[in-house]
Amino acid sequence: MSGLVNWIDARFPLTKVWNEHLAEYYAPKNFNSWYFFGSLAMLVLVIQIVTGIFLTMHYKPDTALAFTSVEYIMRDVPGGWFIRYMHSTGASMFFIVVYLHMFRGLIYGSFKGPRELVWLIGMAIYLALMAEAFMGYLLPWGQMSFWGAQVIINLFNTIPYIGDVVSTTIRGDFVISDPTLNRFFAFHVIAVPLILVGLVFVHIVALHVVGSNNPDGVEIKKLKDENGIPLDGINFHPYYSVKDIMGVVVFLMVFFAILFFIPEGGGYFLEHANFEPANPLKTPPHIAPVWYFTPFYTVLRAVPDPWYGTLAMFSAIAVLFILPWLDKNPIKSIRYRNTAHKINIVFFAVFFLTLGYLGVMPVTDFFRELGTRATQIYFLFFLVTMAHSNPAKAKYILWFIGLFALVLFTDWLRWNDSFTGPQRHYFWVMLALPAIYLASTLLLPMFVSRCNAEKVVPERVTG
Ligand code: HEM
Repeated sequence: MSGLVNWIDARFPLTKVWNEHLAEYYAPKNFNSWYFFGSLAMLVLVIQIVTGIFLTMHYKPDTALAFTSVEYIMRDVPGGWFIRYMHSTGASMFFIVVYLHMFRGLIYGSFKGPRELVWLIGMAIYLALMAEAFMGYLLPWGQMSFWGAQVIINLFNTIPYIGDVVSTTIRGDFVISDPTLNRFFAFHVIAVPLILVGLVFVHIVALHVVGSNNPDGVEIKKLKDENGIPLDGINFHPYYSVKDIMGVVVFLMVFFAILFFIPEGGGYFLEHANFEPANPLKTPPHIAPVWYFTPFYTVLRAVPDPWYGTLAMFSAIAVLFILPWLDKNPIKSIRYRNTAHKINIVFFAVFFLTLGYLGVMPVTDFFRELGTRATQIYFLFFLVTMAHSNPAKAKYILWFIGLFALVLFTDWLRWNDSFTGPQRHYFWVMLALPAIYLASTLLLPMFVSRCNAEKVVPERVTG
């Protein structure tokens, strides 16, 4: 064995790479369960690629055959149902894992220096993943494939001057048709997966240059022993390679439980309307994108003007890119930040989930207003995060007045004299939501000093 390794080492840096990235890569010794999601995301990526290869062997990218070819995979190809469900359930699992992975980054401040680039590459991965999922959903050529794509592609129509050209280029035609299906197929099976794999590779390389963060947000590279090994570091392999297996086992149990018992995820992973072939002449009564897009879909619907709605939707994603430059607080982990910051994170998580929930619900007066308030809170979160950058010197009252004025300004912009009685009612009642949010994140730390107090970050990791 060692002879073979030596032979390879003379021609390729196998042992060097193994040591640098696994056996002698020193990871903080206090990783908790939040740190499972990076390796799980890699696992799901592999599952998607492998199952995708087998699906491609039987799928036909042709509007006349696509739907039936998927039915054929489900009914006649040996094990086809299993491969197809792994791929369709895998798509939703990918987003669950990636959202949890991003949330970990948010609470432990992993996006902050020196890991800004790791975060930026992660965001590029997230964009590529959204494009991949969007184009994959057209392929079964069901009703929701068609109408979902119709709604999203039409958004590009709203871009001033060039909208028409952009959406026609995406479709390859004036309507969604065979050329659209063909180009989406090409992007979904080869172009975007290549980009994704490449981005994941540079994501890990960039992370290994700066080293991993951890639940204490302490830089372990600052304290090293006489051999240059971080005092709080342990070798990734075997310690975390083995620990990650435990995450993989739990994940696979959940994954297969869903796959075998509720593969359609109750109509959220595979929407019911998608079991009907696409019919351009019959609009489904209720068009909703798949759940992982719905937070941003609600942002889109919250703004009455289509172009500004589209802008708001893209800004909701774009703002995540600049998070490292908004949160300037030197304390990384939520463990040592003040209570106001913790409340801020809780609000963000709750209202992000609310946005997601509203995106799958039909629009009623109540839901529309709630969606608008949740959108306001989503964007305010980033500004409040800026306000919390230096709690000792923060001018909370000015922030409160400024941000509340901003809420009122956007309300003034969307106010419409033709609002009905219930719409006016919900408008005023739900103004309480951003007010409560701003009061608890900006006024509370001002009046209750305990809520503004940050803890001392230890020099070494705890636990
Ligand atoms: C295919 C999707 C992705 C894969 C396979 C992936 C993989 C990984 C892996 C293996 C790690 C190291 C282990 C860990 O810290 O959990 C990591 C760390 C990290 N990832 Fe990702 N990632 C993905 C998407 C994202 C996204 C969408 C973001 C955020 C926008 C992101 C941000 C980060 C950050 C900030 C770290 C450093 C965390 C720390 O050290 O605390 N990743 N990623």
